[in-house]
Amino acid sequence: MDNRPIGVFDSGIGGLTVLKEITEQLPGEDIVYFGDTARIPYGTRSKETVIKYVLQSFKFLLTQDIKAIVVACNTASALAMEEAQKEYDLPIIGVVEPGAKAAASATKNSKIGVIGTEGTINSQAYQRTIRKILPSAEIIGVACPLFVPIVEEGWENSDVAYMTAKKYLLELKEHEIDTLVLGCTHYPVLRYTIDKVMEGKVTLVNPAYETAKAVKGILKEKNLFSSKLDGGEQRFYVSDDPEKFKRIGGNIIRKEIVSIEKIDIEKI
Ligand code: DGL
Repeated sequence: MDNRPIGVFDSGIGGLTVLKEITEQLPGEDIVYFGDTARIPYGTRSKETVIKYVLQSFKFLLTQDIKAIVVACNTASALAMEEAQKEYDLPIIGVVEPGAKAAASATKNSKIGVIGTEGTINSQAYQRTIRKILPSAEIIGVACPLFVPIVEEGWENSDVAYMTAKKYLLELKEHEIDTLVLGCTHYPVLRYTIDKVMEGKVTLVNPAYETAKAVKGILKEKNLFSSKLDGGEQRFYVSDDPEKFKRIGGNIIRKEIVSIEKIDIEKI
């Protein structure tokens, strides 16, 4: 047993979709969440910059006596997992591998779509990982940069969201994919709109859910479960003004965000 918290890291608020899944699947675990809101978006930045930000964020999380780190950010998982794992020896769980595995096992026609930020799609991390499991897979990656601001405006079920999704997903429909990876923290919030555009014909893979399952597996394997079965507590840290995080984040986890503090990440 290990009652130390799990560290969850994201470039901002989107990682709360992962936190939500973890709290549902592991309700006894305490969580320390860090959202690098001062430096979001990661999705348009270079690999070097993302690695630097990720390592700095880890340095902060490690001051919180955590037992494992979940990299909730797809861009960070796609670009910086190797470096992070080289640097630290506590369990580090990213979202790409669990999402890729679920997609490879869900597809029937081996045609898989992956949507994410430019950084995630261009890195080919999902494409590579899926192909390792299913070499015959035809994978079509599409960057959907406007989805992030749409979710942050709370417009996930609006006409704007529908029209935007229709345009981004057209190529995937034409390729007749049967499985689609929601490869960005914000996209699970858009799943109803995406499902509507895809006419209910594709399996939507939610890496947030798959990652929570993977976290559970690793805690079990390493005997790191908390002794509490319920009532896990969450503490939040951000690198910019907490107000927006509280407002939008509260909507994502459907719970008021109470314990939140701003830190100066550049000084860590
Ligand atoms: N959290 C990022 C991701 O999952 C989306 C927002 C950003 O670009 O930083 O890729």
